[in-house]
Amino acid sequence: MKGLRHYGRVAFEWLEKGFDRAYGPDWNPLHQLGALGWFFYWIVVASGLYLFIFFDTGITAAYESVEYITHVQWYAAGVMRSFHRYASDALVVVMMVHLLREFVMERYRGPRFFAWVTGVPILWFVYASGVTGYWLVWDRLGQYVAIVTSELLDALPFFGQAVARNFLHPDTLSGRFFTLMVFIHIAVPLILLFIMWIHIQRHALPRVNPPKGLAAGCLVMLLGLSLLYPAVSQEPADLATVPAVVSLDWFYLPAYPLLDRMSGALLWVGLGGATLLLLLIPWLPPRRRKPVAVVDLDNCNGCGRCAADCPFSAVDIAPRTDGLPFSHQAVVNADLCTSCGICVGACPTATPFRRATELIPGIDLPHRPIRELRERVTEAARGLTGETRTIVFGCDAGADIERLEDPGVAVLRLPCVAALPPSFLDYILSKGHADGVFLTGCQQGDCFNRHGIRWMELRIAAERDPHLRARVPRERVGRFWAGLARAGDLQVELASFQRRLKKLGAFRKSQVSRLPGQESETDA
Ligand code: HEM
Ligand code: SF4
Ligand code: SF4
Repeated sequence: MKGLRHYGRVAFEWLEKGFDRAYGPDWNPLHQLGALGWFFYWIVVASGLYLFIFFDTGITAAYESVEYITHVQWYAAGVMRSFHRYASDALVVVMMVHLLREFVMERYRGPRFFAWVTGVPILWFVYASGVTGYWLVWDRLGQYVAIVTSELLDALPFFGQAVARNFLHPDTLSGRFFTLMVFIHIAVPLILLFIMWIHIQRHALPRVNPPKGLAAGCLVMLLGLSLLYPAVSQEPADLATVPAVVSLDWFYLPAYPLLDRMSGALLWVGLGGATLLLLLIPWLPPRRRKPVAVVDLDNCNGCGRCAADCPFSAVDIAPRTDGLPFSHQAVVNADLCTSCGICVGACPTATPFRRATELIPGIDLPHRPIRELRERVTEAARGLTGETRTIVFGCDAGADIERLEDPGVAVLRLPCVAALPPSFLDYILSKGHADGVFLTGCQQGDCFNRHGIRWMELRIAAERDPHLRARVPRERVGRFWAGLARAGDLQVELASFQRRLKKLGAFRKSQVSRLPGQESETDA
């Protein structure tokens, strides 16, 4: 399974590399699947509201009103109908690819189970919204959907034969039934919205809006489809005949033809089993959790940077409890912490320049303490030779950096690239440990830990605290966000970085002006 997932991830990243070329990393739709899901959801809602104005709930009036929408007011309501249909289809596509992608990228384990488990009911509610929508049109397809759905409902022990199927009898089918269907068709997406909201509750700064350009492109695509292939109805429903279905919507109704081959009860067992399996996936197989971030109150001043940068909302800033003269302190919620270490990279006390006292920051990962990272840096630096001595930092989820190692290149892995406090870059260069530092990790626009790459870029650009000091020569800090699919490009980028370093010449400590307070520090 592990190997299979690895190949799945590589396949996705290769595909995304192609998409990157076409759209650029920021507009890459495969990096925006959750946001696109939200986007298509809102289009479905907005277009549905417009259609609701013209929809009539009578038995024959329902079909006639949809015909009016499609053919008479084709320029507005007709286009809205097509938007409604195609955005619903697009929602299924992005949802399914999103599910598959989160699976192969393994973003559903440990505390990240929450988004996965809340995603499962989303599947059911999206399908229920679509099925009730087809029913409302009350054409031959609507009739087919109604018959198959009622057969399915009849197979459930709590729906007696009389309940579901009787709705489809000419004597019992009434306009009130259509009113009920409209109510369900509105209520189900509303519940869906609520679950979608819960789905992202454990994410700090979730991406729920695609970039403007991508959104505009999707709108143009929907408009083009609506004008070229407007959504139309089939023949009106006729309860006296059994509908022969043409043009089944394979996005929403793929399971329906299965009822020709198996009983409703068996189909329920299959669907129920698949749902249960999906719900259990985060624990299959169970895995031991990594130790979570720990706060050391003696070193925490309550500045809140760890809470601001944690991508999983695992740090709270609470009133002080230990009597130190600060108003607040950091508190880690162990159930939410994924051990990514980004909070450590954000903590101003995690500075390697600290020599007077032991290097214990306000927040740290017990199994990968920052003190040990400083030791690893000095150790790695000791072995470096040549004029372009480079320390490469990579992350657990990103590119394979070990293959980059050579006498002039030392490699160090971190849980996430943003687990590296920017002061380490300053430290490495100003102490002469290397002539350059090179950062790599996941692919651009898709950090495994959600915000790691973004925070690191902003810290280097001095746009987010803790920022990299102005005195650090930026030309000596290279980076290339490689992921798994760009191993070759990573080697090329590193080589070109080292060529630039060579031109700059060896880095002398005197190139960095010592700051007050550092004069007494012993060089490591
Ligand atoms: C309408 C359908 C859906 C929408 C609109 C949606 C939306 C989102 C959004 C906005 C995010 C956050 C992305 C970010 O900012 O990092 C997300 C993450 C996620 N979703 Fe969905 N989602 C949908 C369906 C599903 C389904 C069906 C599943 C799986 C059963 C799923 C599993 C996940 C997982 C595992 C994550 C990542 C959690 C993490 O990074 O820790 N989603 N989704
Ligand atoms: S390691 Fe830190 S940043 Fe990462 S999830 Fe835990 S508390 Fe949040
Ligand atoms: S960043 Fe460090 S000092 Fe600031 S609140 Fe978090 S643990 Fe405390």
